[in-house]
Amino acid sequence: MADQAQGLRNLVLKNRQNARVIAVTSGKGGVGKTNTSVNLSLALSALGKRVILLDADLGLANVEVLMGLSSFYNLESVIDGEKHVREVLVKAPGGIQLIPGSSGMARMADLTPEARDRILNGLAELQALSDFIIIDTMAGIGKNAVSFAIAADEVILVSTPEPSSIVDAYAMLKTIYNSNKDAIVKLVVNMAANQAQAQAVATKLSGVSRQYLERNLSFLGFIPRDPHVSQAVMQSNPFVLAYPNAPATKCIQQLAAHLVQQTTQAPQERDSFLKRFAQTLGIASNS
Ligand SMILES: Nc1ncnc2c1ncn2[C@@H]1O[C@H](COP(=O)(O)OP(=O)(O)O)[C@@H](O)[C@H]1O
Ligand SMILES: [Mg+2]
Repeated sequence: MADQAQGLRNLVLKNRQNARVIAVTSGKGGVGKTNTSVNLSLALSALGKRVILLDADLGLANVEVLMGLSSFYNLESVIDGEKHVREVLVKAPGGIQLIPGSSGMARMADLTPEARDRILNGLAELQALSDFIIIDTMAGIGKNAVSFAIAADEVILVSTPEPSSIVDAYAMLKTIYNSNKDAIVKLVVNMAANQAQAQAVATKLSGVSRQYLERNLSFLGFIPRDPHVSQAVMQSNPFVLAYPNAPATKCIQQLAAHLVQQTTQAPQERDSFLKRFAQTLGIASNS
């Protein structure tokens, strides 16, 4: 009897737990956000996690191109009232599900009350059905670009070892902390020559973060510069699937495992992401 009751409690607890919403962002474009989002999602899925990937990059359907997909409906169909969020979910390779964003993202800041409710209710539904929602955002510190990063439970900030990328990553970090001083930001160094170079970037960025922003920036991991990444891009097949033994794959698998271990850091209170998201977009939530 005791075991049965415990089982029931666990089930209820499990179902009440929301997905961890993680925005992948950067200061400048072309640093590997989309590749990180896609392949991290696949690596999490391989660890048995239910993953939904949201393409929140404006305009270009980057994630779909990278995964060799092309879908008719996207978030814009939800805004227009044609579809529910769950109806625009696409089954992607590797067991993950994708919400194509496309031009719908440009209209997120200017929604009718009906469209707002459809989006928020739809996202709430998805949050209850998944373990991770990974959001591939666009680069830059504009309002649309940072709204997801500010609202998400956690942010993965991608930088390369190039000085211009580090400077822009710092600007992004500052913008995020200025809007949400409790933000949890984790650094991923992409296109590193080796671990030592990635570590040096992490030391530099976490140093300025502590000194000037009085915030800790944790180092989640690195992805080496690896020709398999661009080869996979050319084939529209994510490198985790196309090259399971590539150095980049090994590193992103470690990164995913790290993320899964860090369970206690994510705020678990219900609707937290949605409330912040609605506030960030300046749309009062009535739910
Ligand atoms: N670790 C890597 N090693 C080699 N090339 C990479 C790596 N990460 C990204 N690239 C290259 O950089 C390009 C841009 O990556 P992408 O993920 O689209 O960046 P973003 O989404 O930040 O604009 C990719 O098409 C790929 O050719
Ligand atoms: Mg991109």
